[in-house]
Amino acid sequence: MTIDTGKVYRLEDYRASDYRIDRTTLAFRLDPDQTRVTATLDIARRDEAALDAPLVLDGDGLKLISVSLDGTQLSPDRYQASPDELKLEGLPKGAFTLTVETELAPAANGALMGLYLSNGVYCTQCEAEGFRRITYFLDRPDVMSVYTVRVEALRAAAPILLSNGNPVESGDLGDGWHYAVWHDPHPKPSYLFALVAGDLGLLSDRFTTRSGRDVALGIYVERGKEARTPYAMDALKRSMIWDEEVFGCEYDLDVFNIVAVSDFNMGAMENKGLNIFNDKYVLADEETATDADFSNIEAIIAHEYFHNWTGNRITCRDWFQLCLKEGLTVFRDHEFSADMRSRPVKRIAEVRILKALQFPEDQGPLAHPVRPRRYREINNFYTATVYEKGSEVVRMIRTILGADVFRKGMDLYFERHDGDAATIEDFLKVFEDVSGRDLSQFALWYHQAGTPHVSVSAAFDEARGELTLDIEQSVPPTPLESRKRVMYIPIAFGLVGANGADIEAAAVEGAVVENGVIHLKKRKHSVRFSGLSERPAISLNRGFSAPVTLSCEQSIDDRLFLARHDSDEVARWQALNGLLTDHLIKASKSQQARSNIAPRLAEVLGDIAGDDTLEPAYRALALTLPGEADIAREIGSDIDPNAIHIARNALIDTIAAANRESFQALYARFEESDSFSPDAESAGRRALRNVLLDYVSAAGATPDRAADQYRNATNMTERAAALAVLAHRFARTQAATAALADFENRYGNDPLVLDKWFQIQATTPGEGALSRVSELMNHKGFSIGNPNRVRSLVGTFASGNQTGFHRADGAGYALVADAILDVEKRNPQLAARLATAFRSWRSLETGRQALARKELERIAATHNLSTDLKDIVERTLA
Ligand code: TRP
Ligand code: ZN
Repeated sequence: MTIDTGKVYRLEDYRASDYRIDRTTLAFRLDPDQTRVTATLDIARRDEAALDAPLVLDGDGLKLISVSLDGTQLSPDRYQASPDELKLEGLPKGAFTLTVETELAPAANGALMGLYLSNGVYCTQCEAEGFRRITYFLDRPDVMSVYTVRVEALRAAAPILLSNGNPVESGDLGDGWHYAVWHDPHPKPSYLFALVAGDLGLLSDRFTTRSGRDVALGIYVERGKEARTPYAMDALKRSMIWDEEVFGCEYDLDVFNIVAVSDFNMGAMENKGLNIFNDKYVLADEETATDADFSNIEAIIAHEYFHNWTGNRITCRDWFQLCLKEGLTVFRDHEFSADMRSRPVKRIAEVRILKALQFPEDQGPLAHPVRPRRYREINNFYTATVYEKGSEVVRMIRTILGADVFRKGMDLYFERHDGDAATIEDFLKVFEDVSGRDLSQFALWYHQAGTPHVSVSAAFDEARGELTLDIEQSVPPTPLESRKRVMYIPIAFGLVGANGADIEAAAVEGAVVENGVIHLKKRKHSVRFSGLSERPAISLNRGFSAPVTLSCEQSIDDRLFLARHDSDEVARWQALNGLLTDHLIKASKSQQARSNIAPRLAEVLGDIAGDDTLEPAYRALALTLPGEADIAREIGSDIDPNAIHIARNALIDTIAAANRESFQALYARFEESDSFSPDAESAGRRALRNVLLDYVSAAGATPDRAADQYRNATNMTERAAALAVLAHRFARTQAATAALADFENRYGNDPLVLDKWFQIQATTPGEGALSRVSELMNHKGFSIGNPNRVRSLVGTFASGNQTGFHRADGAGYALVADAILDVEKRNPQLAARLATAFRSWRSLETGRQALARKELERIAATHNLSTDLKDIVERTLA
């Protein structure tokens, strides 16, 4: 574990390295406790560097065995070595070869960075700075090298030996050992290096690229899980075709391999030609995976594949540019899923995720720009801001320039920067060049943190037929940035007439409106529409064109009208969601003030549920009330999670009671057919039916329907949803206990499925969840060393259980803090991520605030904290 040094890295300190490493030849002799790594590096001083520049290679906890220069072993006085650095001086003026031997203990590597063992499988994770845990290197993305990798292992333990690029040769070594050599012709940064060795099962397939390259595709999984790989393979092939068609990007090696491992810190990793995945995002069949799992798999397979161009062929100059590959690649995977599924439904789901994950980050102590200017620990910047807001920024570029010019810009990006380690400035420049526009104000989206707020007031002059919108933007202060500059915000909009159709003919005053988008570039704008024969309802931020919060004074009637009729489905959902949220905020603040709008909301939801002209998936989203955390976020201060929970449940009961018969009938009508298909349409029907199950189980209903659905389920989507209704609505009843026991019994030996059981229990509302969570931490299926287990139980409790985590006595905070400190001993990255659950602590009412602070301070006061955890906890407390 790297103990915090307090060092801060700054964007403005960037300078190129003094040396290049043109070729990297690695030899691994694998052993759980003593793996020998021999790295042979062809190094040359850059022309710009001083003749006597020392060579300083990065290391992280390394055990050095030997160093040789041009084939001659160096005595220890010729270099300075520590576990974290190798420094050489007096090097040859020209090119030279450095050979470094290190020894690793993969079995003892609980941080899951560098080379580690996952369930007996050797694998690596090098992004961002894990390669330096394997050998001494210039471990930075702008040092690109051509890799040749030789892997030796006992054949019985590891019959499969994989690395990046194409296979070159393999053979027997005697004594039970064998070897394989891989060569990757594309120069790449060290973070894209990968190695896998183990006893793995394989699904293979082929793909022919549009220029005729024949590619061997492989998905490797732990033995016995091969039958759960076809969906991922199908998603991979669809991704490959889509990237050719939509972005002109073709695959560039003879093999493309994916390996699923069960211990992984994140979702997946785009190593060149050898993507490594958290097995949760590969393995799926109807019996064990939900529709949400299928859609995540499709998206993440695509995401990692798309990195081959946006990330690998064009990489990042330094880690401040992380959004260059992540924001752009998220945008690409969003577009892929939109094309594979329902575009508006996908967009609404994205908006919900952005608001649930990125808005609170942007509005709290961990706020940072999409391109940060400083960091202490780069692992802590793989955030919703870099990924999700980063994607929104790319989407806005397309909105502003139009789809055709955007595509021209992307083409130029690939052409101009292929092989480069590039920057955000390079990226913006291609769009300036193809459009002839100045994007310097727009660039603030990368540089300035905080969620902008746009407020709109509307005035209609009946006699003149004129509508005036007065629009004002503001950006709230964020840590280290108290004063904000005025941003360029594209707000797509529509004026909706009484018949529900958009009013097209209105003339506009002011040059800021173009193709249905208001281009805000000043702090205040006044936009006037004339020639209107009726007062329109105003539909704003259609398609969620800008990642902002928005307020617009409109009557409840207009908002209800938009919630029913807006032709833009995203804005229609937003109108409904806004009404529901406003009501829930009021209701949670005072029991009496429970606004009389609830019956009208129940009526709209009843109508939407039964409207067969709408896609079932859309209806399911509309019927899903804002979550307790969403309501808390909108309230923003002095939050009482219990009051929110009560108000939300009361609204569910009102809606359920008002629509009892029709919801029951609909629930029956959407009964699952026998043959399962994971496609979006079928998933949408299941989603609608599952939301309906929750309503028909509310307002004093019996658990019978949920118990029936649980018992008769023919797939995991139905079964898990029924179990959640039983466990949450009927906690501790015989029906709930029986179903939980049955589920444990059926799936107790299947860790990924048992995770769902952990999650459902971790999210049971109320005080009781805490003792259950601590009990489950001793369950035989739980392991503090496995990130999926920890996230399912502890992470879900901390981020997904408002009344449990925020128990008024602080016991929830204490349990999570204990778990964080325990996890930190082996896996600092995971511990730091768990700790972000505390980020909104200042928004709580004072009692809970004090209790949360106490736990944060207890963590901060712990000796020898990792950089990862110390960075998060100190920023959270600052
Ligand atoms: N680049 C990975 C992605 O596709 C992110 C990632 C995977 C990662 N594993 C990691 C980042 C470990 C940091 C540490 O988004
Ligand atoms: Zn990524």
